Amino acid sequence: WPAYAPEIDAILRLKRERNAVVLAHNYQTPEIFYGVADIVGDSLALARKAAETEADVIVQAGVHFMAETAKLLSPDKTVLIPDVRAGCSLAESITPEDIALLRQRYPDAPVVTYVNTSAAVKAASDICCTSSNAVTIVESLGAERVIFLPDEYLGKHVARQTDVEIITWKGHCEVHERFTGQEIANYRENHAGLQVIAHPECPPDVLDAADFVGSTSQMIGYVRDRRPDRVLMVTECSMSDNVAAEVSDVEFVRPCNLCPHMKRITLPKIRQSLETLSPEVTVDPGVAADARRAVDRMLAAS
Ligand code: 13P
Ligand code: SF4
Repeated sequence: WPAYAPEIDAILRLKRERNAVVLAHNYQTPEIFYGVADIVGDSLALARKAAETEADVIVQAGVHFMAETAKLLSPDKTVLIPDVRAGCSLAESITPEDIALLRQRYPDAPVVTYVNTSAAVKAASDICCTSSNAVTIVESLGAERVIFLPDEYLGKHVARQTDVEIITWKGHCEVHERFTGQEIANYRENHAGLQVIAHPECPPDVLDAADFVGSTSQMIGYVRDRRPDRVLMVTECSMSDNVAAEVSDVEFVRPCNLCPHMKRITLPKIRQSLETLSPEVTVDPGVAADARRAVDRMLAAS
């Protein structure tokens, strides 16, 4: 990408000077994903790799909850998020007070919390999960029923794969909730032989219409391994751009739903973040230990 070369060169130099790594979620734009990222992946992979890195500085090219998770697992490192406004509608949908009320109502049910939540919500939970390990985590608890927060559609998707009773919340991803089953049917009608693969944050009628459902990395793995002639990735649209750069023999049909939060992260902001070592992400010490315990329990069980 010649237009991006000066920014990319500056970031590569700054990474060396700061002993920094850039983590990029699968939804980042190709110039970030391929140009400056050291570690890429879904939420689970980023959480794991953040814990392993020996860098002094972590730049999170993702959203705020991902940066908080990195800080929880690497409390002695400087964790930067290039734009503090990079939030998540799921993380906004639930508070620790909501969890306290749910626990009163269902005292026998442990709380499984999707990583797309604040550190304070993680701290109020028993264990975290991601889209790639949710069923394993739910079943690891040995409970008859669990409270699963905050993504209603992911919760319903899990419920269809387990005998454990799943109590859901009404949180939704603002990107995935916009897809509809009718839209998928229209794509199939207009594109013969189309394989449809969807993220479990999509509504149930979309998941019913899909050939495969999985986390962002599982979706990428499906395309890499199976090489469908034509594929529709029902998720944030930068992911298709990243995978298309890798598998030139696959045709990508692209609905484009952008995550406005992910898109706040740009090369100039990553550069500025490394220059100024800000904005730094910190976690309230009052919740950090309990939040870390919920994430560590997930890593141990998945
Ligand atoms: P993954 O864990 O599948 O990467 O999902 C994260 C996310 O924010 C999806 O919208
Ligand atoms: Fe949150 Fe949805 Fe954006 Fe993922 S795509 S970060 S779940 S708003």
